[in-house]
Order: sequence, then structure tokens, then C-alpha cells
Amino acid sequence: MGSCYLSSSLSILKIPTTIRCLISAGPTREWIDPVRFISNPSSGKMGFAIAQAARNLGMSVTLVSGPVALSPLHGVDTIHVETAIDMKNEMLKQFEHADLTIMTAAVSDHRPRFQSEHKLSKDNFPLSLPLEKNPDILKLLGTQKKPGQRLVGFAAETENVMETARKKLIEKKLDWIVANDVSRIDQGFSSDLNEVLLLGPNDFQKRFNLAEKTIIAEEILNEICSLWLEKAH
Ligand code: PMT
Repeated sequence: MGSCYLSSSLSILKIPTTIRCLISAGPTREWIDPVRFISNPSSGKMGFAIAQAARNLGMSVTLVSGPVALSPLHGVDTIHVETAIDMKNEMLKQFEHADLTIMTAAVSDHRPRFQSEHKLSKDNFPLSLPLEKNPDILKLLGTQKKPGQRLVGFAAETENVMETARKKLIEKKLDWIVANDVSRIDQGFSSDLNEVLLLGPNDFQKRFNLAEKTIIAEEILNEICSLWLEKAH
């Protein structure tokens, strides 16, 4: 037990090191057959950067990560998952004990309805693939949130970034959402850089200008902790 001190624009903020932070990162893989899957270009960099920043603030951090090629983070309890269903099960389990949950993961919204146990040959491969919806993990967590828990989502958008992110903030019952314009090639998916907009209730918004994801992660966490803990004091 102890505390970590964070300098905010208003005051020096005392962050209890008993805060348990749960973070999701990376893509999910939805298998078609043993050699093919549906996925997306998420590298896990944004989620790992937030996990590292939370650990540096003294929080106890659990990271649920899809398949990524990043080195493990020292001092972060990391659980590896592959599919959206795996991620849902793990997040629901860990969420019970979390004070602050941040979902940066790019969860596949759909999975193939059928998975072939054996590799499909070129001639057997269907030219159209029946899909079914994956669960919306963040929305599920929003319905299970208890008083005192804080829930943060990311929104990867290519148009109407702020409006769409605000819609998700409300629909998924989040405390804050980080709007990420992924139409830009200099940031977002896979890049080391990001520029984001943190949105919250009562039209709250704060922009974090283009910077390394490690810096953006610190800025997001510092702001969230200031808004959360200053209000609690
Ligand atoms: O991993 P990097 O290469 O560093 O890239 C970082 C990033 C671009 C992936 C990250 O910054 C980002 O924007 N993550 C959100 C990706 C996403 O899936 O956005 P979305 O708008 O589709 O989903 C909104 C939120 O719901 C997200 O928090 C997502 O984790 C969650 N979600 C989405 C679908 C689903 N079935 N279940 C979910 O929980």
C-alpha cells in the first residue's frame, strides 16, 4: 500500500497504489480454418503503452492482449487471448476486481459462422463467408459496472470522429471515451504515434496532439486520474 503523486494542472494529485487497472490491447483473430482468420492491423502498442503508464503510476495492472508481437511488460500481469469470445470471457472475469478498465483492443465485430477443422482447399473455399456477430465486450461491461468502477473505451473512426465516439460513450455507458481518427496514415493502427480526443460527460473534451503512444498514454491516464480522483476528494 502507498501512493504515487501526479502533478495535474490544478494540484498535486495523490494516486492510491491500490488502484487495480484492467486494460485490453491488440486485435482478435476469428478463424476460418486452421490457416486463415479475420483480423485487423492493431499492433497492441496503444494498449501496452497504457499498461506501462498505469504500472508507472503504481497501479496494479492486468493486461488482456490479443495476438501481438510486443515484448512482455515487466510488472504487468498479462493474459493472452486470441478470439473475441476468449477476450470477452477473460475481461468479464477480471472486471469484477478492477477499479479502472480501459479497452483499447480492436475486437472483431464478426466471426465466421462456421470454422473448418481442416484447411480448406482453393476449390472448397467459399466465395462468400457467412458471418455472425461477436459480443460487444465493452457494452457488456457497461451493463455490469458497479458504483466506484470507471470504464473507458476507445473509438477508432474514419469519419464523423467526435460524433460517433460520443454516441459510443453513451450507448456503452462509459465514463470516458478516447476518439481516434484512424483515417490518418501518420497515427492510429500500428503506428508508434497517435493523436486523440478524450471525451466525457457534459461535453467534456481534451485533445492530445500527435506524439509517441507512450506519451499519449501518460497524458490520457493523468487526465483520467485527475478527473476521477479530484472529484472523489
Ligand atoms: O494497437 P495499435 O496498433 O496501437 O492501435 C491502437 C488502436 C487504433 C487499435 C486504438 O487506439 C483504438 O482506437 N482502439 C479501438 C478500436 C476499436 O475497436 O474501436 P471501435 O470503435 O470499433 O470500438 C469501440 C470500443 O468498443 C473499443 O473500446 C473496443 O475495444 C470495444 N469493442 C468493440 C467491438 C466489440 N465487439 N467489443 C468491444 O468491446
